[in-house]
Amino acid sequence: MADKKFELTDLASGKKSLLPVKSGTIGPDVLDIAAINKDHGVFTHDPGFGVTSATESKITYIDGDAGVLEYRGYPIEQLAEKSSFMEVCYLLLNGDLPKKAELEKFNDDIRHHTMINETLLRFYNGFHHNAHPMAMVSAVIASMSAFYHDSMDIHNPRHREIFAHRIIAKIPTIAAAAHKHSLGQPFVYPRNDLGYCANMLNMFFAVPCEPYHVDPVAAEALDLLFILHADHEQNASTSTVRLAGSTGANPYAAISAGVAALWGPAHGGANEAVLAMLEQIGTVENVPKYLAMAKDKSSHFRLMGFGHRVYKNFDPRAKIIRAACHKVLERLGSTNNPLFELALKLEEIALKDSYFVERKLYPNVDFYSGIIYSALGIPRSMFTVMFAIARTVGWVAHWQEMISDPAMRIGRPRQLYTGAGKRDYVELGKR
Ligand code: SDX
Repeated sequence: MADKKFELTDLASGKKSLLPVKSGTIGPDVLDIAAINKDHGVFTHDPGFGVTSATESKITYIDGDAGVLEYRGYPIEQLAEKSSFMEVCYLLLNGDLPKKAELEKFNDDIRHHTMINETLLRFYNGFHHNAHPMAMVSAVIASMSAFYHDSMDIHNPRHREIFAHRIIAKIPTIAAAAHKHSLGQPFVYPRNDLGYCANMLNMFFAVPCEPYHVDPVAAEALDLLFILHADHEQNASTSTVRLAGSTGANPYAAISAGVAALWGPAHGGANEAVLAMLEQIGTVENVPKYLAMAKDKSSHFRLMGFGHRVYKNFDPRAKIIRAACHKVLERLGSTNNPLFELALKLEEIALKDSYFVERKLYPNVDFYSGIIYSALGIPRSMFTVMFAIARTVGWVAHWQEMISDPAMRIGRPRQLYTGAGKRDYVELGKR
């Protein structure tokens, strides 16, 4: 097929140019605008990058209108039903589902990197007991660049693989240490006889004075949530990791930047904000009042867990989590969960309201996830940390894809300058 092109005409000068069109495996074509400044002396302008393709990627595909999410071509619904988080990690990092021996080796590699340097544990004593765990986790991950700075040649594939194993293995340990610090309880070491999620729950909830039994239902629920949160193409935190990594920065520092970006309530911080919102609403009777506030721009109140930059249909992850809530709450014996009932009612009422329907504002991944985290006994301040644990593999996969691309360049957006024109300095006495 002849190369597809768009013609661009500057109507003021009549100057024309042809923009090459690139097509992917699936999804919208993109216009290659690299020559637009040379040919027309202009930049494109897209604050928030709503319609800008920042990179080519083979990792995750989203169709926001159809509510489609695929990791390396595999539909999220099938992975949620049939896969495991460790298998999804292998898939995102390597591009294909592992064979049995490959999965066993990957599990073994991860399992033998779960401990953190003992001196890192002393970092936690520098935090007040009520420090937000996202602050502790991002700080401790950034400090890992001090421990591995020498053995980190980002252009060495083996070094990149060891980095991937280390950070995926250690982030649950780092997260659990933050949780134990906030409780004033002793740190619990990882155990190599437990799976990834069971090990995390044990580090969170075990105490030295009695044996702790990890509920398999809880481990299974966490595994599902981690699969659903593992990657999501060029979201804000992943784009942050790519931009930080594009400078050649130590990858632990780049992941720490991703944790910081995820923390915001417009992004991964929404899961924590949803629970606070549901508690603030309190009863179904109050729903109309809060929906009115969500529609009133002057209120600055937003329906947390609703809306998405890409999904203009149901977030497929929200549907899966909503269904899982029913099953997990029943199996954990907390079928009477007022906040879940309120969330279901809030969704039902909002999706009949023209404001939300017209703007295609549906529940997103964060709307129901906190219900399950709460049922597992995880405190609300740790919800976004859970998101970060799961998303670490997605951040690493995108970082690896970028760093291993020979054509990689430092990311450096331009701007539309609307500030003061050139003017001369005025001495203090003359101002
Ligand atoms: C995640 O990008 C990803 O992929 C992210 C993520 C991932 O896996 O990495 O999916 C995870 O971050 C999910 C999103 C979690 N955030 C929230 O739930 C916070 C609440 N949602 C909103 O703040 C908002 O919907 C965003 C931030 C998610 C999306 O914002 P956009 O795309 O910039 O949309 P917008 O702010 O331009 O909203 C369009 C309209 C506006 O009204 P009008 O000006 O057209 O009248 O919809 C309104 C907004 O006011 N609107 C909402 C709303 N979300 C959008 N109104 C009330 N409540 C909301 N939640």
